[in-house]
Amino acid sequence: MKELVKALEWKDEALYLIDQRKLPLEETFVKVTTLEECHGAIKDMVVRGAPLIGFTAIYGMVLWIKNNRQACLEELNKAADYLNTARPTAVNLEYEVLRIKQMAVEYEGRFDAFYPIIEEHAKAQMQVLADGNLAMAKLGADELEKRCGGGKLNLMTLCNTGWLACGPMGTALGVISHMHSLGRVEKAYPSETRPYLQGIRLSSYELTKEGIPHDIVVEGAHSFLLRNKMVDAIFIGADRIVSNGDTANKVGSSSLAIVAKHYGIPFYVVAPTSSFDLGSETGDEIEIEMRSQDEVLYCGGTRLAPEGATAWNPSFDVTDASLIEGIICEKGLIKPVNKENLLKVVNS
Ligand code: MRU
Repeated sequence: MKELVKALEWKDEALYLIDQRKLPLEETFVKVTTLEECHGAIKDMVVRGAPLIGFTAIYGMVLWIKNNRQACLEELNKAADYLNTARPTAVNLEYEVLRIKQMAVEYEGRFDAFYPIIEEHAKAQMQVLADGNLAMAKLGADELEKRCGGGKLNLMTLCNTGWLACGPMGTALGVISHMHSLGRVEKAYPSETRPYLQGIRLSSYELTKEGIPHDIVVEGAHSFLLRNKMVDAIFIGADRIVSNGDTANKVGSSSLAIVAKHYGIPFYVVAPTSSFDLGSETGDEIEIEMRSQDEVLYCGGTRLAPEGATAWNPSFDVTDASLIEGIICEKGLIKPVNKENLLKVVNS
């Protein structure tokens, strides 16, 4: 059963976010009433996952407009630019913030009137996410049937791309969830996802709630798992997909794709069109967020590394387009992955 709790809720002119830092041990909510609090919630990963970061940012702007109805356009643009700095890699954040900046032009000097409009826009985006998630899940199931046949399958994923990260259903995890609803999942393999442990803490939380049989695997086990042909296909999400199909996603995605290619296991990316950055040509142009070394040196508040040890902690990496069997967005399947096919689908 899904959505026993919600990832977020807009109630009495405040945003309530499930605190993803505390899952799965505690289901508690953080109340957000200002743009600054929204920025903090994104940066500190109370809320995370590219589509939900974008969606939360819409509400960050809703809150700013609610609290600054007499402000001018220049002030709104400044607030939007500040919100945009919360996390740099997930393009969904700048995509949603830019759209609001563009909508605001028409309401210059009339933000009182803009407030209900932008509140409605936010609500409507949840439906857009829901429809898109379902469309991608169905496309993923169709592709699996063609590529791997109609039987039960073993499906692998990395990081967390379910309803905690994307709203109603999920992207990569949404495909697995949909396959389960069709009775077609033998077992799921969520990767632990060091260092922030989105796989153990969040994907397993979602899979458990839905009753999907799964074994968590540590990153060091990927190669052996795939060599043993224990996985039929891999699905990951994306934080930014550029024109040639290079894809930034949680660190570890790229090495998983390389191993998958080596052992002939199809590797798919599933992401809405808001995750595409057509202004960039190749993955070299993607800014990769560097996070605190403490995420590596500590686990659950306990220091594991010796005093004085340091760590390098890129939050994402870039998977080359040549390693990706197909990219699924709500508009269709991009396969083979190249610029021509990508532009054809995304601009359709
Ligand atoms: O650092 P996070 O937890 O926000 O990273 C999330 C991921 O990398 C997801 O795989 C990606 O955002 C896609 S979410 C559908």
